[in-house]
Amino acid sequence: MNVKDLYIDFFEKKGHKQIPSAPIVPENNPTVLFNTAGMQPLIPYLLGQPHPYGKRLCDYQKCVRLTDLDEIGDKTHHTFFEMLGNWSLGDYFKDESIEYSFEFLTKILNIPVERLAVTVFEGDDKIPRDEVSANKWMELGISDKRIAYLGRSDNFWIAGDSGPCGGDTEIFYWRSNDDIPEVFDPEDDRWVEIWNNVFMEFYQDENGNITELSQKNVDTGMGLERIAAVLEGVDDNYMTSIWKDVIDTICDIADLPYEGNEKSMRIIADHIRTAVFIAADPAGIKPSNTDQGYILRRLIRRAIRHARSLQIDINSNWDEQVALLIINKYEKYYRELSDNKEVVLSVLKNEKTKFSRTLEKGLREFDKLVNVDNKVVNKDVAFKLYDTYGFPIELTIEEASDKNMEVDVEGFYEKFKEHQEKSRSASKGKFKGGLAGNSEMEIKYHTATHLLNAALKRVIGPEVYQKGSNITSERLRFDFPCDHKLTAEEKTEVEALVNKWISEDLKVTKNQMSKEEAIASGAECSFIEKYPDIVTVYSIGDVSKELCGGPHVEHTALLGEFKIKKEESSSAGVRRIKAILK
Ligand code: SER
Repeated sequence: MNVKDLYIDFFEKKGHKQIPSAPIVPENNPTVLFNTAGMQPLIPYLLGQPHPYGKRLCDYQKCVRLTDLDEIGDKTHHTFFEMLGNWSLGDYFKDESIEYSFEFLTKILNIPVERLAVTVFEGDDKIPRDEVSANKWMELGISDKRIAYLGRSDNFWIAGDSGPCGGDTEIFYWRSNDDIPEVFDPEDDRWVEIWNNVFMEFYQDENGNITELSQKNVDTGMGLERIAAVLEGVDDNYMTSIWKDVIDTICDIADLPYEGNEKSMRIIADHIRTAVFIAADPAGIKPSNTDQGYILRRLIRRAIRHARSLQIDINSNWDEQVALLIINKYEKYYRELSDNKEVVLSVLKNEKTKFSRTLEKGLREFDKLVNVDNKVVNKDVAFKLYDTYGFPIELTIEEASDKNMEVDVEGFYEKFKEHQEKSRSASKGKFKGGLAGNSEMEIKYHTATHLLNAALKRVIGPEVYQKGSNITSERLRFDFPCDHKLTAEEKTEVEALVNKWISEDLKVTKNQMSKEEAIASGAECSFIEKYPDIVTVYSIGDVSKELCGGPHVEHTALLGEFKIKKEESSSAGVRRIKAILK
């Protein structure tokens, strides 16, 4: 049996019910693009709603994390991974959770106890030090020298800024042939974290206030690729049985060895696997310039770029070969892969055709525009390739390096910014009263709109987002999904919250970053298609963070008093607020 099957079998024997992996695209949560942890689909149950399968659950959950996108290509990062998890929803707590983890690791996976060490929460002014967990570990045979007490940044877990949360205990494994030190030093990276047991007994709201949940839960998570690497004794995840045949296939296709070509091969393997899972998801995502579709497009295109850099003929069926291998490997666990096999293959094919056209045109222009006698591709050429021919800057860099040339990348980004500013000014007036409004009052309403959005999320629920917005110098109008007419209390609460933030005179800050970074940082991005690859994110104190073209006021005290004038239906399931600043 492989680890996945051993894990489920073990927890079933301990009275857990296996739940199916939820889709990677969350079904009822527009605030995140993908599930990033096994607990995410379980949030309502951690908060107290009874789960139809009972109080003890286990699964392997498909997760996509984009925070590490730039790290892909090294030995340990992946955009897609499977998380093994077990949960107690108000049933067992610390003692049993630790006993189960210890038994699974030492008896089922046969990991010697000498190779294990743990961290536990050291406590702070709000939550006491976790002696219960530490005592349990010692009782099981972990020496006190192998227990490290760490603070909130290490041993406290929450998804995002608010939600169910709690202290955790993390289990580490000594992955080295060096002698195992008696004393555990969590900073020594020969100790790798393999499992996280979170004791979710609190709820943290957006202001950082912590209250006790109605039930004490356990949420554990173990990354499959990491535990596989540990058990198989390799330090490169891509050399485990999970990936080995995928890498071998890529070596065959490219007719190159893995050694020396690791980075591109890992990127191809990782990105095609993630693309296969996103394209097969029941949400029916297709490559596009928005949200999940945008990520899918970027992954496929980046894989193609790296295939090209390995001299693979990108118009051959190399991508299909890799995708089919992945589908075969995983279809036993995830039926949607075989059900949607044709969809996946056609997504890959269509996107490749589109990208090939851009590439061909761009490459022709590259040769025409670039003077090989110069050692540098200047900023005007790099920008023209991007702006007129849709040729990504990364490709210009690769092409240039093939010709032993450099690219003025800094100059490119300067031009990029100038261009953005210009098109923004050009669109002012065109969208009078819309997002690019330019009178002083319109700018204020624009900032007030962000505050209103943030306040509605807190008062009505996280499902609120900006479905529509219209601004004039007299008022703002904001449409958002909501299934009921707001009560008088809700309206008062929203107004009070916005006015509180105004009176706190919060600073409005502006940052530029790539779309991926913006998404990964949790910035709200309902209209991502309107924005270029490098985007502007506006934050207001720590109450709001939105991807947005601006402009905004510099601090909230400039807004005056906020008042809701009208709340009405806009269409089915959508409410409309009109509000003014006095
Ligand atoms: N939610 C925790 C994590 O993702 C444990 O599952 O690490």
